[in-house]
Amino acid sequence: MDKPPRQLGLSPATRAAQALRFIDPASGGVTPAIHLSSTYARDETYALRDGYIYAREGTPTTRVAEDLITDLTGGAGSYLFSSGMAAIVTMLETLKSGDHVVAPRVMYHGVLNWLVRLESLRGIKVSLFDQASDEALKNAIIPGETKLVWIETPINPNWDVLDIAAAADAAHAAGAVLVTDCTAAPPATTDALALGADYVFYSATKYLGGHSDLIAGVLTCARAGDAWDELGELRKLMGNMLASFDAWLLIRGIRTLYLRYERASDNALTLARHFEGHPKIAAVLYPGLESHPNHAVAVRQMQGGFGGMLSLLTHDEATAAALVRHVQVFIPATSLGGVESLIEHRKAVEGPNSIVPDTLLRLSIGIEDVRDLIADLEQALDRA
Ligand SMILES: Cc1ncc(COP(=O)(O)O)c(C=O)c1O
Repeated sequence: MDKPPRQLGLSPATRAAQALRFIDPASGGVTPAIHLSSTYARDETYALRDGYIYAREGTPTTRVAEDLITDLTGGAGSYLFSSGMAAIVTMLETLKSGDHVVAPRVMYHGVLNWLVRLESLRGIKVSLFDQASDEALKNAIIPGETKLVWIETPINPNWDVLDIAAAADAAHAAGAVLVTDCTAAPPATTDALALGADYVFYSATKYLGGHSDLIAGVLTCARAGDAWDELGELRKLMGNMLASFDAWLLIRGIRTLYLRYERASDNALTLARHFEGHPKIAAVLYPGLESHPNHAVAVRQMQGGFGGMLSLLTHDEATAAALVRHVQVFIPATSLGGVESLIEHRKAVEGPNSIVPDTLLRLSIGIEDVRDLIADLEQALDRA
């Protein structure tokens, strides 16, 4: 890096596009090299050359990706992981038997399933709150006992927007830390750490990567310290590090994050407005719509757009199940945050224990021409 981009006063979109003005020190390359070596030779005094020892602890390539994410989130440090779930499991591994965790009743089902497992096998106490009620989070916290408050915003798959600042106040008043899963609200729109979260988590598989070609997770801390060091140690011991090749793909994805997010947000808003009130659609769940219950929080908190994630409720399950078979532009696949639009019948993906309505279709809107997306859903609805 030849100049510190933050000190130049450059905006985040510029810092992302230029990957922190990264210039490869060995070659002058304007993209970082991919360091695939698993181990690092010491110098003639047997000292480490640049701090690197073994790729399970990090490589020059993973370092660039971590520094970039730290910069864009305004954090004090970032750890990459081999998947979003690897990051989550590692974070939850810091809890001790008897610790109390608070989390929303509706959220990404993988986290929920892991919390249920921790409760039954590890003696972690878990309280799930109704994410639709402002008071429920506060009421679920037990001062002195709650160690970790986990929130997700916007929440999968109904896209309720949780107030990060209010959650941080409630967590901190009780001596707990707040972890915010902002997978669907990347740094292009939500400054989770500035709003008071202690840690922000992203499944980097989604918007940060942006091309449906890698699996990765990242945790960023607001403040470094013993807890952060412990997390790094756990990542190393659990073998949850991201590989260099994937870190390189992630850097490439982040360079266009702001552009992709803006386009996906514009497309999603247009599509949501088109289908709101449509005779074959019972409801459109999208925080950008004035009718969304958390629209005011979203306007405050999602300053770079409302994102590409929305759900449609059909009038009956048969229509939802048929629609995903009739689409021709939308790809019937799970996941989100890629350049291509995806559609899924969510309950079928989450399985029989899911509390998601069987009429819910989850859409990840990409960067295509929105007219093609709308026409595709219209023809699929006609045939469903
Ligand atoms: C909100 C959210 N959190 C966490 C995850 C888990 O991330 P990964 O699939 O990268 O392990 C996902 C994946 O879909 C997600 O949507």
